Amino acid sequence: MSFTPVVRRTPPRLYRSKLFVPGSRPQLFEKAAASAADVLCLDLEDAVAPADKDKARDNIVSALKEIDFGRKLITVRINGLDTHWCYRDVLALIEQGGERLDAIMIPKVGCAADVYAIDMLVTQASVAVGRKKRIGLEVIIETALGLGNIDEIAQASGRLESLHFGSADYAASQGMRTTNIGGGNVDYVMLTDPDVNGGRARHWNDLWHYPLFRMCQAARAHGLVPIDGPFGDYSDGEGFRAQAMRTAILGCEGKWAIHPNQVALANEIFTPPQKEVARAEAILSAMKEAQEKGLGAATLNGVLIDAASIRQAQVIVEQMAMIREQSSC
Ligand code: COA
Ligand code: MG
Repeated sequence: MSFTPVVRRTPPRLYRSKLFVPGSRPQLFEKAAASAADVLCLDLEDAVAPADKDKARDNIVSALKEIDFGRKLITVRINGLDTHWCYRDVLALIEQGGERLDAIMIPKVGCAADVYAIDMLVTQASVAVGRKKRIGLEVIIETALGLGNIDEIAQASGRLESLHFGSADYAASQGMRTTNIGGGNVDYVMLTDPDVNGGRARHWNDLWHYPLFRMCQAARAHGLVPIDGPFGDYSDGEGFRAQAMRTAILGCEGKWAIHPNQVALANEIFTPPQKEVARAEAILSAMKEAQEKGLGAATLNGVLIDAASIRQAQVIVEQMAMIREQSSC
């Protein structure tokens, strides 16, 4: 290990599915509260039309005080720092929203100072109203500038808990040729060299691999949780599954759901498969046995396992323990 250890700053909890609900559709709040999502995001930003911003803010402030959200993590996405709604969003949530809110999500973060500015507002308002519960911050990486400054952003505040990747805004910011939200592009391909008959295969590439990998790496390097963003075509469960599986494998702990029918898919994909859990448990018990015999490495079904295998297995076993605990409540 480095002499500078990475300390996980985010309390361990489930993030498998984060259901978005526009603040301008309060009739959906109770349904979202009753859903199986681990996290809710009441939205003030892009799902709310400019004319509805004030009303949406009022709706969310009332909901935070009136609706029973159970044990869900409750977050609100505020408007960006380049708008005139942003400061009022923060102040209304802290000054009038009571104690239920868990975290504020900041969109389109470009540099560490963006996070610093929101932290300053949250801190001042929290002290002024005597708020007891600490508010966390979540950041969306969805601009070329934000991705470029991701390491400094990830260290910008002690309130930070998670980084999220927003594919649609990111694509717009970078001038990428895509108009769907988080899906593939039929033309982003590699052609194999011709085979003996001159045939060439087309292999689709993942447009989102680099930014998602980079976000996972920056989040983990600074003790934060990486979360995959939206997949716009909510009628394409198979496409959602494939995208979610790739990011689960890269290290994301969950994915946004922009429609209730994506919640179960996200919960399923971000729950470690039974086969992986069984193998992780077997690794831990085989390594315990090896250590009792004074050995640092052992074999399990003919495959080498060692201290690194313990760390890999622990990630899966701890995640599964949280899921079992939640489903037993
Ligand atoms: N949260 C809770 N319930 C929701 C919901 C949500 N986000 N979206 C839809 N529902 C409910 C509907 O009320 C409906 O309930 P019913 O069966 O009791 O009538 C059911 O789920 C099916 O809804 P459907 O008719 O398929 O959806 P819709 O046309 O009403 O809305 C969207 C579709 C995409 C506009 C809506 O899901 C939505 O606004 N999603 C969030 C978008 C967002 O916040 N984007 C920003 C982040 S990218
Ligand atoms: Mg966005």
